Amino acid sequence: MRNSLSLDGKVVVQIGGSGLLGRAMARDLAAVGANLVIASRNPANVADAVAAGRQAGHIISAESVDITDEKSVAALIQAVQSKHGRVDGMVFNAVSRPMGGAASPLEGWRESMRVNADGLYLCLQLFADAMAAQPAGGSIVNLSSMMGMVGPNPANYEGTTMGTVPDYFFHKAGMIQLTRYYASLYGLKKVRVNAVSPGGIFNPEKPQADAFLARYNKMTMLGRMADAPEISGAVVFLLSDASTYVTATNIPVDGGYTAK
Ligand SMILES: NC(=O)c1ccc[n+]([C@@H]2O[C@H](COP(=O)([O-])OP(=O)(O)OC[C@H]3O[C@@H](n4cnc5c(N)ncnc54)[C@H](O)[C@@H]3O)[C@@H](O)[C@H]2O)c1
Repeated sequence: MRNSLSLDGKVVVQIGGSGLLGRAMARDLAAVGANLVIASRNPANVADAVAAGRQAGHIISAESVDITDEKSVAALIQAVQSKHGRVDGMVFNAVSRPMGGAASPLEGWRESMRVNADGLYLCLQLFADAMAAQPAGGSIVNLSSMMGMVGPNPANYEGTTMGTVPDYFFHKAGMIQLTRYYASLYGLKKVRVNAVSPGGIFNPEKPQADAFLARYNKMTMLGRMADAPEISGAVVFLLSDASTYVTATNIPVDGGYTAK
């Protein structure tokens, strides 16, 4: 079991690595043995993560990608295959948040569609095809959210400047369903496709408002928000050989929020 949970020698591409979750996940995937390629719009944004990983003896590199451009995603896959021989895992962690609030102009919604829907579609389609052409197949993990599973609770945000945006709920729910779609289409080709749905993540660099934390924490069974590294375990499991019979699932990592 210890061996099957390791990512030793697996070539994993993580799309989006500069955010709160992406930085923790990249560190953890590389630490459990992945040959990790962080794909970022601007690789300079993840240069520190690559340097720190290498310093710690991990195998980690960066490639550039624009997930809204089919040629760019295809070029990423080709670069990874020619440098590393294959691609065993892909973690879709990118997200764009262009809408300022509930009643934002249509432009924000359209920009969200362009990155979050088009980008997800291109990455799923092209990575699934690339993995299907390999004898060993592969594993895809989509970072969704508990906000793709339940509606917003406006009471959580009362008395703060925080709030929710409609596109996020739309894309995160759609991502869970698209996960099932691709899992069903590619299962016989040994490509597994799963989702992980984190709950709210505490941001130590820019802590959420006290009034929000007081209410949100009570909505979870564990009485607190997640710390970013607490999301990595489910992602490692789904990329690893410990989950070879797991596909089309969505694992909430939300402290029990969506089960209440
Ligand atoms: N932060 C949370 O509380 C939380 C909770 C639940 C789920 N999630 C999910 O986890 C994932 C990561 O969240 P985060 O908070 O670290 O996000 P973030 O906004 O901090 O980072 C998002 C990443 O996406 C990348 N990105 C954006 N547009 C891109 C593009 N066109 N091409 C390539 N990369 C692009 C950014 O560079 C960045 O690395 C997202 O899918 C998010 O929905 C986050």
